[in-house]
Amino acid sequence: MKGVILAGGLGSRLHPLTKATNKHLLPVGSEPMLYHPIRQMVSSNIEDILVVTSTQHMGDVVRCLGSGEEFGCRLSYKVQEQAGGIAHALSLAEDFANGNKICVILGDNIFEYSIKPYTDAFRGQDKGAHVLIKEVGDPERYGVAALDEHQVIEIEEKPSNPKSSFAVIGLYYFDNQVFDIIRTIKISGRGELEITSVNNIYIDLQQLHYSICEGRWTDAGTFESLFEANQIMMENNNKIISHE
Ligand code: G1P
Repeated sequence: MKGVILAGGLGSRLHPLTKATNKHLLPVGSEPMLYHPIRQMVSSNIEDILVVTSTQHMGDVVRCLGSGEEFGCRLSYKVQEQAGGIAHALSLAEDFANGNKICVILGDNIFEYSIKPYTDAFRGQDKGAHVLIKEVGDPERYGVAALDEHQVIEIEEKPSNPKSSFAVIGLYYFDNQVFDIIRTIKISGRGELEITSVNNIYIDLQQLHYSICEGRWTDAGTFESLFEANQIMMENNNKIISHE
C-alpha cells in the first residue's frame, strides 16, 4: 500500500496565521503538523508517500520534510495548481499509485492512536474503500454518515441538518478504482470535487466499509481545532499511541 497526504488548500479559516505559510506547516505540539500523518503512515508500514500541496507552498513543504529519510520513508511531491477540492488533489496521485491500494490522510487531521489497525484491516479487504467514523459534537462541519450496524448508507457533506453525529474523518483507504470514480463525479455547490461524492459511489457499488476511530481525533483547520490538536500532541509528547 502507498500513502497520499493532501496538504493543499488556502487555510483561509486560519488567517492571519496562514498569510505567510501553509496551514500544514503550523506547529502542533513540538512539530510541524505534516510530521504527524507521515509518522502515522510509517507506523503502519507505509513507506512510499506522496505529498500534494499548492505551488505557493511547495518550496517550504520540501524544505521542511526533505527526502523522507528522517522519517524512514520515501517522499515524493506533486503540485496542485488550483484549490479544486480533496478529490481533485487525489486525482493527481494516479501515476504515483500505479495500481496499488492507497491510504489517504488529510494533512490537518490528528489521530491520538496509531492508524495501523485500520491499515491492516484494509490490507485484508479484497476491494473497495474503507473510511473512519467518529462521533462529534459539531457534525455540520464534516462529511456526515447515515449508518446501520454493518454499513454506511449515505454520506452528506456539511449538511445543515445532519442525520447523525458521525463524521467521516480525514483518513480514507481506496483501491485503484478511485481514479476512474473521480473522473465521473461533478463539481459541488462550493466549487470542489468532493471526497464525499467519491465515497458515495463506493456505497452505490456496495464496496464501502468503515471502522470507528478510537482515541481522540481532531482536524486543525480552525483556531479551536488547532488548539485541540496542540493539546493532544503536547499531552502525548507528539508520540502516537499504539493499540498493542
Ligand atoms: C474535509 C471533508 C469532510 C471531512 C473533513 C475531515 O472537510 O470534505 O468530508 O469530514 O475533511 O477533516 P474540510 O476540511 O474541507 O472542511
